[in-house]
Amino acid sequence: MVKLIITISLMSMVSLFLCEQVEDTLILSHVMARHGHRTAEMDFVFPTYPLQQTSFYPYGPGELTLEGKKIMAGVGRALRERYRNFLGDCYSHGLIEAISSGYKRTMMSLQLILAGLFIPSNSCVLKGNLNWQPVPFSYLPFKTDKIIAAHRTCPNIFAVQTTFNKDTLELNKYLTEHAGFNITNSFDIYTIFWSIQNLLDLGFEAPEWSVSVWPQLIRDEENIQFFDDLVDQKLKMLSGSLMVKIHEDSQKKINGTFEPKMVVYSGHEINIAGLMGACEIFNREFINYGKDSLILAHVLARHGHRTTDMDFVFPTYPLQQTSFYPYGPGEITLEGKKLMAGVGKALRERYRVFLGDCYSHGLIEAISSDYKRTMMSLQVLYENYEFNKPEVRKLPGCSEFCEFEKFVEITEKFYPNENWCS
Ligand SMILES: *[C@@H]1O[C@H](CO)[C@@H](O)[C@H](O)[C@H]1NC(C)=O
Ligand SMILES: *[C@@H]1O[C@H](CO)[C@@H](O)[C@H](O)[C@H]1NC(C)=O
Repeated sequence: MVKLIITISLMSMVSLFLCEQVEDTLILSHVMARHGHRTAEMDFVFPTYPLQQTSFYPYGPGELTLEGKKIMAGVGRALRERYRNFLGDCYSHGLIEAISSGYKRTMMSLQLILAGLFIPSNSCVLKGNLNWQPVPFSYLPFKTDKIIAAHRTCPNIFAVQTTFNKDTLELNKYLTEHAGFNITNSFDIYTIFWSIQNLLDLGFEAPEWSVSVWPQLIRDEENIQFFDDLVDQKLKMLSGSLMVKIHEDSQKKINGTFEPKMVVYSGHEINIAGLMGACEIFNREFINYGKDSLILAHVLARHGHRTTDMDFVFPTYPLQQTSFYPYGPGEITLEGKKLMAGVGKALRERYRVFLGDCYSHGLIEAISSDYKRTMMSLQVLYENYEFNKPEVRKLPGCSEFCEFEKFVEITEKFYPNENWCS
């Protein structure tokens, strides 16, 4: 009875002192974002495409347009809203791993996401009114990328087999005639779709022949068909290596050997469809940009009985603090917040100033030593910016949170074959 009362009062302290429940248990977030509006890639248009790449000026082929840039800066700011307390305002070494595919539009998108995500505060503001701070990122060159633009390394990914129904065969005949190439699968229609969408985005007229089939036929049916075909037939190649990386990064986070708190991938709509497919949550949705911009986030969080957590955490507090110390205990993670909840917000503030905004190796190691694998869960969030908040997608057999083992069990079916492009 006494214990129960103590537990309840601790709980209310927790709710008083923790700013955000989401961050409460978060230790690692994986984010896959789709780039914004872009110009056409000239090797990805149909033969009768009406423009030369010089018509895109001031944009180059396959680059973000101004609209696309605005969207991606907004994606960064939306991420910041959610993860600001988790990441802090200042970039510090190792805090984040940011990876783009080798396309200009994904690199530009990533720069914008990072600019929005790390709007600097006092201690990292630059001179000259630059409301920006540099954040390193890397990109995966074509021909070796198995994770994001895997189709550039393994063109087989786009060689889907499509079973067309009778109506679509009629449409295909029409498209073949006007677009100037044989429509053999859903990828061909997808190519036509994006070629025309990119024209419209730039304010050009769509070809006259396309008006009668736009957008219902091409977009809503056939374009989704391509995502469906990919997920059904090519998932191991499309997303298997990504799932392995997500698994390994999470595993390392749990055992204390992974420094970043967030991994951001700047990719393509096919990556979002593939990631959803591998989590078995793909519902045949149309993945677009603009108002339909999407982010799929995995959060790796400790999930368990809170009372147990508190019972566990408090007695070990002094020890933890000592073990943090040489490495820079500065990180007030969820863990830290829980510890500090009992000590009070003022102390937390003081602690943070004392320690600075830097996150470092030891912190994560110390945290992970307290975690048991079985306490780890993932949550999958799907965001298209028409929602007020991200939609939680439940993996099959999981509640809102999916135990890490269960997540692995679901997704490992899609790990790549030994010869990954087969
Ligand atoms: C389409 O396929 C047919 C038969 O396979 C072929 O004769 C024709 O040349 C092809 N047309 C184009 C535009 O590639
Ligand atoms: C941590 O996990 C990774 C990935 O499973 C593994 O390769 C590594 O050996 C582990 N390290 C420790 C110290 O347990």
